[in-house]
Amino acid sequence: MQSLSLKLNKTYGFVSKEDILSYKDAAEKAAQALHEKTGKGNDFLGWVHLPSSVTEAEFSAIEKKAGYFRDNTEIVVVIGIGGSYLGAKSVLEALSDNFWALKDHQKNPRIIFAGQNLSEDYISELISLLDHKNYGIVVISKSGTTTEPAVAFRILKAHLENKVGHEEAGRRIVAITDEKKGALRTLATKEGYTTFVIPDNVGGRYSVLTPVGLVPIAIAGFDIRALVKGAASMEKATAYTVPFEENIAMQYAAARNALYKKGKQTEILASFNPKLLYVSEWWKQLYGESEGKEQKGIFPASVTFTADLHSMGQYIQEGLRNFFETVISVKETQHTMVIPNDPQNLDTLNFLSGKRLDQVNKMAELGTLLAHVDGGVPNIQIELKRIDETCLGELLYFFEIACGISGYLLGVNPFDQPGVEAYKKNMFALLNKPGYEEASKAIQKRLAEE
Ligand code: PA5
Repeated sequence: MQSLSLKLNKTYGFVSKEDILSYKDAAEKAAQALHEKTGKGNDFLGWVHLPSSVTEAEFSAIEKKAGYFRDNTEIVVVIGIGGSYLGAKSVLEALSDNFWALKDHQKNPRIIFAGQNLSEDYISELISLLDHKNYGIVVISKSGTTTEPAVAFRILKAHLENKVGHEEAGRRIVAITDEKKGALRTLATKEGYTTFVIPDNVGGRYSVLTPVGLVPIAIAGFDIRALVKGAASMEKATAYTVPFEENIAMQYAAARNALYKKGKQTEILASFNPKLLYVSEWWKQLYGESEGKEQKGIFPASVTFTADLHSMGQYIQEGLRNFFETVISVKETQHTMVIPNDPQNLDTLNFLSGKRLDQVNKMAELGTLLAHVDGGVPNIQIELKRIDETCLGELLYFFEIACGISGYLLGVNPFDQPGVEAYKKNMFALLNKPGYEEASKAIQKRLAEE
């Protein structure tokens, strides 16, 4: 039984219950098409039943390698970009102590990400840290050819080999990639690295429950079985056989499409817990890459409150009325903090004395919800019981399945990303990559004429 819940009542002033319910047939058909692999992009639906199909052998292999890193390294650099980065990053940020980087005596290696940018400063500063650390590398790329992680891996591989020797470096490098093809697969085979496979039928942004997400999460010491178990309970709760009226994934997909039809072109994902910041980043990739095509799609944006109430709050309250908000509310905190009494009360805050900080946060949340709805912003509410592996597993799968349904309701293929190629083509032309000679000439001519 899943603990995640969805409330749509704060959208009803903007769309009617009937507007949302009018998507019932289409949403049920979309969910069935995902299940039966009859819709657009059906080569990439391996993630739909992934949570209920991870085997004991897969868990054990991942946990064994994670144990190796825990015993032998103090830092593990996870190299990847997009779907090969954001899933693990979102779970690790959510589950980790806010100040893990500054706290000593941790029993698990610290995870640092690389290959998600091309910044010379980032990689130089990372190298200067790694000069003094005992570290390993997990390199993740489904295609095995993505420039950003490939360049970072080339630099870090050379650094590690220099530091510990070629043989030892080989033991400390894990590659997660396609089973057969791609430059990373070729290299891993030649070097004899431990490898994990990204299934052919799972695209990057739907891959968090494959070794792409599970290996880094296990190395950091978190419970991947509970994460997958949470996702599996959501797989069951949102199966295509569960009717619309009881199916929160269908309802979320329907509500956002109904709002979009009423001119709400942007969805702002909001939360009042900074640990969910990277869940929002992951969600933005999931929905942005899945739906933003054919000149349509809801633009996914995000805010973290209450910080952003003091920046974006003004716009949300009074700017253009072309968006809706989806608020992830976390019911239980991990810690307790009571606001002390101050006999002098110079800050005039004694009305809060004895209250838990979370009570104040929750009232900020409720106050914001009411203010934004009054200001013309429809609100979808998602309640997460707490931030732990099981609840996060539920949340991630909920967003994935709802995204598939929502993309089908919108009429696009939610499982491709043709638009991502345009910048790569220009970059390769500008860098004179072999094979891009004609494009190089054309782009140089264009730049000279501008
Ligand atoms: O969702 C996607 O498919 C993309 O974001 C990819 O994950 C990203 O481009 C990285 O690709 P790769 O894993 O092939 O290096």
